[in-house]
Amino acid sequence: MSGGTRKLGRRLVLAAAAAALSALVASGVVASGQASGTSVESRVDSLVSKMTLDEKLEQLQLEADWQVNDDEARRGVGGVFSLTDPEKIDHLQHVAVEQSRLHIPILFAFDTIHGFRTVFPIPLGEASSFDPNVAHADAHYGARETAVTGIKQIYSPMVDVSHEPRWGRISEGAGEDPYLGSAMAAARVHGAQGNDYGAPHRVVTSPKHFAAYGQPEGGREYNTTDMSTQRLWNMYLPPFKAAVDAGAGTVMCSFNAINGVPGCGNHETETEILKQRWGFDGFVESDYTAVAELRTCPAKNPDSGPCGHGVAADGPDAARVALNAGTDQEMVSTNYVDFGKQLLAEHKITIARIDDAVRRILRVKFRAGLFDHPYVDWRRAEAQQLKPDAVAAAREAARRSMVLLKNDNKTLPLDPTKSVAVIGPLANDQHDMLGPWWGVGRDQDAVSVFDGIKAQDPNTTFAQGCTIVDRDPPDPPNDECGSDAGFDQAVATARAADQVVLALGETRGESGEAESRSNIDLPGKQQELIDRIKALGKPFVVVLFNGRPLTLEKVDAASPAILEAWFPGVQAGNAVADLLFGKANPGGKLPVTFPRSVGQVPIYYNHEPTGRPCDPTFKWNSRYRDIPTCEPLYPFGYGLSYTTFSITNLQLSSHTMRPRGAVRASVDVTNTGSRAGDEVVQLYIHDPVASIEQPVRRLRGFERVTLAPGETKTVSFRLDRSDVGFYDNSGSFVVEPGQIDVYAGDSSKASLTDSFTVTP
Ligand code: BGC
Repeated sequence: MSGGTRKLGRRLVLAAAAAALSALVASGVVASGQASGTSVESRVDSLVSKMTLDEKLEQLQLEADWQVNDDEARRGVGGVFSLTDPEKIDHLQHVAVEQSRLHIPILFAFDTIHGFRTVFPIPLGEASSFDPNVAHADAHYGARETAVTGIKQIYSPMVDVSHEPRWGRISEGAGEDPYLGSAMAAARVHGAQGNDYGAPHRVVTSPKHFAAYGQPEGGREYNTTDMSTQRLWNMYLPPFKAAVDAGAGTVMCSFNAINGVPGCGNHETETEILKQRWGFDGFVESDYTAVAELRTCPAKNPDSGPCGHGVAADGPDAARVALNAGTDQEMVSTNYVDFGKQLLAEHKITIARIDDAVRRILRVKFRAGLFDHPYVDWRRAEAQQLKPDAVAAAREAARRSMVLLKNDNKTLPLDPTKSVAVIGPLANDQHDMLGPWWGVGRDQDAVSVFDGIKAQDPNTTFAQGCTIVDRDPPDPPNDECGSDAGFDQAVATARAADQVVLALGETRGESGEAESRSNIDLPGKQQELIDRIKALGKPFVVVLFNGRPLTLEKVDAASPAILEAWFPGVQAGNAVADLLFGKANPGGKLPVTFPRSVGQVPIYYNHEPTGRPCDPTFKWNSRYRDIPTCEPLYPFGYGLSYTTFSITNLQLSSHTMRPRGAVRASVDVTNTGSRAGDEVVQLYIHDPVASIEQPVRRLRGFERVTLAPGETKTVSFRLDRSDVGFYDNSGSFVVEPGQIDVYAGDSSKASLTDSFTVTP
């Protein structure tokens, strides 16, 4: 088939999401001659030496489930994503391996972000656990369920640091802190890949979105990002570095531009930083049509499809920019395969660069074991889903991820021998519990709050109060608890019970990709529902399900108790009940600041100082005239427990540190209450005099400990150059002599302090 016909076919596929008009060209089976046991590099060399240019360009193509067909597989397409039917995957893999000329297997991929079938809490929730084991378990079971389906690559972890609660995708990452984000990123890579992603229950990870996608201007999805070099290196790159150091085999470049350079056309981030400086030898895939989006609008050659960045004139130009920048594989759009030959003939790209991209892709396929074991037994796939150990881990993850924001007068735990009314639009809801990346999770897998509470207290009633249904354009606007018609019945139900659980928040569709909000209050009339319940004078708790920090001043003022549950996954209701009845004690902490008002955004604990630090009592300072405090509603690292703790006795092993030495900081943490519980001990540092302003605090250590009543543990943290140093505005890591202040405590407001000096 001619290239022209094929291009047309691909364009039609793109435009109409229909099957490509392509026909079989490849014929003649030629043994690839790859012997198992020889090193990956020599197998890659040998295979590349046999490949035609067309076959090489095919490897650079990544197709969606709606694009791929047998012809594409036979022709040797490199990757396919979002196909989850194991029988179809197996079929296409057989076609690729048995009918393509060189028998190169397809790398199947999927967004296993917080679970495949066994859906875990959203990553922002798991970051609240301050326990990397939670992220590790999620990734481990997610990988097992994904791999048995025939999928060997996951587009996870999402490691974008974000200070933008308006941005829906803040739900997918670990929040605002690069240190916590790095710990979670590494845990996810280890959890999914282990030491060898070629093992049958393992998958290769793809940290994303490279880079600084978490800081779109105005919090508006896909919007531009403009930032200093030091900010990029200190705040946004560390979790990517941690993921790569943990062995991440692939990386996804981002939609957004940084300083005018789009993520998938950025030579500095993709090639100079990732591949050269960090020594990454895997491949970079583009995000969805991100290569086509490099084009100026209106789109040219092809005259349709996405466009906008304006760093490329047309399709061939976009392929040139992206490939030369370091993007190895193109997702959904088809400029590499369509125009690669032409660009080579025009000397706009080199065969060396094509070979480099192909080698990277094949290297990952060899390491993934695909050449030796391309098939899985798809008939076994279903039985491997939702297994009891995965479901138990999801319940534990959900319990550890929830954050107790308020508990006046020991409202919680509730008494399971008394009656409970479960009220609210999310109270009898399975669908939304799964969160914005539900994988192949099904609503019926999830335990609703009502069912979870009823299972532990049969004397439980339910009233919805209002409905909350989200719709995307062009459908009519959301119905987010817009009517109070059901409030009387909700109040009557609540009046008849001893205690009330209000299940409120956002739908899962209101958070996640393309779900930015300009107003981050509790949607609709939910606040009025709280006020009506409050008027009854009964003990009640607000349990919140949401994918972002919300502005909760009114909720906080009206409610005696608030539990931030995020989107907890399949075990939502059971985990909520465990915590509300005190079977488990909340120990999560906020991985992101909760503002009082959306006008404070961006507001984050690790900000730089100013010459006029905020002082609400004085005019000429960095304050808002209409907010009588400098504080957020709930700070980073904050969270309560049903017991109390004291953190005392900060000890430094030395008050000086040589530039290549280390200092240990230790504290004693004691459970001073009468229940067992968890505390997250947090260690922050501040460098008061440096060549560039240093954040007022930076988290450099945390540990979640479980203590019996009266029990004390000593927790210690090691600080070295990697902690006290920072990246300067040329991207160089520097360790400067001088004082380092240390703070220890139970949140970013920690007050226990000492300092040491880094010697020249
Ligand atoms: C998202 C990615 C995702 C990809 C494939 C894109 O729209 O930005 O995070 O991996 O789709 O599903």
